Amino acid sequence: MSSDAAAMTTPGAPDLRAIFDRSNASVAAEVDVLLEIAEGAVPAGLRGTLFRNGPGRLEHGGVKYGHLFDGDGHINRFGFTDDGQIRYRNRFVRTREFAEEEAAGKILYRNFGTNIPGGLLKNLLRMRFKNAANTSVVAHAGALYALWEGGLPHRLDPESLATLGRDDLGGALQNPLGRIDRMISPELPFSAHPRRDQEGSLYNFGAAAGTKSRLCLVKIDPSGRCERPDFVDLDGMFFIHDFLLTENYRIFFLAPAAFDAPRTLLGLAPPIATFKGLPGPIEVLVIGKDNTRARRFKAEPGFIFHFPNAYEDGDRIIIDGFRMDRPPVGDLLDSAQDGRQTTFPQPFLTRYVLDTRSGAVEERRLTEHAGELATVDPRRAGLPYRYTWAVGSPVGRVEPYHTGVLKVDVEAGTSLLRDFGPNMTGEPVFVPRPGGSDEDDGWVLSMIYVDSLRTNELLVLDARTLATLCRARLPHSTPLGFHGTFVAA
Ligand SMILES: [Fe+2]
Repeated sequence: MSSDAAAMTTPGAPDLRAIFDRSNASVAAEVDVLLEIAEGAVPAGLRGTLFRNGPGRLEHGGVKYGHLFDGDGHINRFGFTDDGQIRYRNRFVRTREFAEEEAAGKILYRNFGTNIPGGLLKNLLRMRFKNAANTSVVAHAGALYALWEGGLPHRLDPESLATLGRDDLGGALQNPLGRIDRMISPELPFSAHPRRDQEGSLYNFGAAAGTKSRLCLVKIDPSGRCERPDFVDLDGMFFIHDFLLTENYRIFFLAPAAFDAPRTLLGLAPPIATFKGLPGPIEVLVIGKDNTRARRFKAEPGFIFHFPNAYEDGDRIIIDGFRMDRPPVGDLLDSAQDGRQTTFPQPFLTRYVLDTRSGAVEERRLTEHAGELATVDPRRAGLPYRYTWAVGSPVGRVEPYHTGVLKVDVEAGTSLLRDFGPNMTGEPVFVPRPGGSDEDDGWVLSMIYVDSLRTNELLVLDARTLATLCRARLPHSTPLGFHGTFVAA
């Protein structure tokens, strides 16, 4: 337990860490069922499919994975039917590494936080990691992809969730650089955080390992055609998980944190065990949407995994992100078995205002509720916006476990938390009500883990008030996972 968490523990208080660990028990079965409606009813007008991705299995062959980020990709699919029912299906993403490890009954590949059991010789110079396919899911031009930031996307059948295979986007993700770069990374990584512009093109990036540290930038047009990637050289290795897209810019936050590449390469440790923060400000890299006009700004030190949104306002660029005061080290999962410590700081939604004339950066916290995993109205992506919905915590909680759904009015600077504690909440996905015009006229879908029942429920909340409109019970618990997407019918 971290010192932060230990300081928070009081007699009789729920053990959130234990509940979080139980919420991440590996998935026992793949099922196809109609969900039991435990409360309320599916709102009229809510039609379509919610897909979620996350680490569905966190051990293999009797060996526990070293990090939540290593879990095998697993999709939850919720189909809202015309007659007000919810059809649920869950499937693992059958990557080639998953299939090989299934057949072998043991871990064969290294990952972000896991070395292959058997010591140094099993890991020395082994840099082909498992594609966990566990971080997000995106639908574009009729295709559905499971995403993982270190490798190629996997294409899925949107109905059956069958894995159709790795997809290099018509060859665009084959590494076009020199021989040594191609040897290190034959394929370009495609991050788990693509963003769509208002014209319907999908933009993404990959942090490509090679002879230099580079950002690979890609764009897929609305018809699904992926342009040849562009590259931007970086002055060091960074952990870049998410980016921002405005009308004219792509924006990256480069926090001074590093992995120890030689230790990782030599197999002495998995990458996360060598990850550490470095002193110094965050560099904000602003690139023209057409990949020109790179500009750099300096922000206060810290670390950000996720950004709800960004937009332009004349000469200013407004960016909202969940800022941690230092980079996270360790894991959220119980790691008592190998004595590692978890030191995950709580993230707080923070507004950055970049003045493109003066180069100045202003920062201010938008809410005192810690939060993460936010979504906005997709019609406001990259544009001025007012609301975001996130997982959140009561004010004052320092343990990094979220039990609530948090709505922040970034314009008024007010927030509303609906706390489901001691249950754990998953990323709330906002779905606009068809025909509605207000930015919070719609529903928030969040899968939660109900500890007393040891099962998950899907919540449909009124996006204005966070009142429960429908609560549907799953036949089992699955890890709540990271990110999802809603595809309207
Ligand atoms: Fe993410």
